[in-house]
Amino acid sequence: MPYFETHAHYTDRAFERDREALLAAFPNQGISAVIVPGVDVPSSEAALALAARFDHVFAAVGIHPEDCEGCGDADFAAIEALCAAPKAVAIGEIGLDYYWAENPPRDFQQEIFRRQLALAQRLDLPVIVHDREAHGDCLAIVKEFPQVRGVFHCYSGSPEMAEELVKGGWYLGFDGPITYKNARRAPEVIAAIPNERILLETDSPYLSPVPFRGKRNDSRNLPYIAAKVAEWKGLSVAEVCALTEANAKRLFFGK
Ligand code: NI
Repeated sequence: MPYFETHAHYTDRAFERDREALLAAFPNQGISAVIVPGVDVPSSEAALALAARFDHVFAAVGIHPEDCEGCGDADFAAIEALCAAPKAVAIGEIGLDYYWAENPPRDFQQEIFRRQLALAQRLDLPVIVHDREAHGDCLAIVKEFPQVRGVFHCYSGSPEMAEELVKGGWYLGFDGPITYKNARRAPEVIAAIPNERILLETDSPYLSPVPFRGKRNDSRNLPYIAAKVAEWKGLSVAEVCALTEANAKRLFFGK
């Protein structure tokens, strides 16, 4: 029963001491594939370096809204060059983050987001969208690029927005927070969207599911997230595992 992990930051310092051993063991632990997203140029390069080391590891390359301060033409040229690597399967993670007051100004985040969506459109690559407390603007901006497809990672919007995204061809990614007691919207959102648009992700090292909340997260915790999706969809965990793997292959590998 292999899981496809669509979002885990194995370039993070939290994995400094055991990243290679951890990644090497995954194929024997029921994890068939892992996508490691970048958040800036160096982490995108690091994600591609990991992907080059392991057959089951793939990279997304891009500039995260929290890390976009001072970004300009040279950064976009670097990201575009990295997109040519055979194991660069998406542009991400990109988007808008209005949660932290110290983040770059909203209009600048929006400009960086638009430029990367335009790049995805030109290169015909899927995108991984980070949307934190920016639902209205994220939805409006992706609608400016109707040919671009991808995933709203760690989806936290309303059921209505989920339905609009699904109509536009988008996928929704779910993480540890759906296992928390205060996950009010998640059951409703998951019930409202088709099975074919659900992806499983951990956002490791962050967002550990119950019962590991507060500890370092890794992809071996995907079954806890799958169990919640299974409960709300009336499916078995094995069915959720199989269908989310098929969904990820369709979105990121085009098959
Ligand atoms: Ni992330």
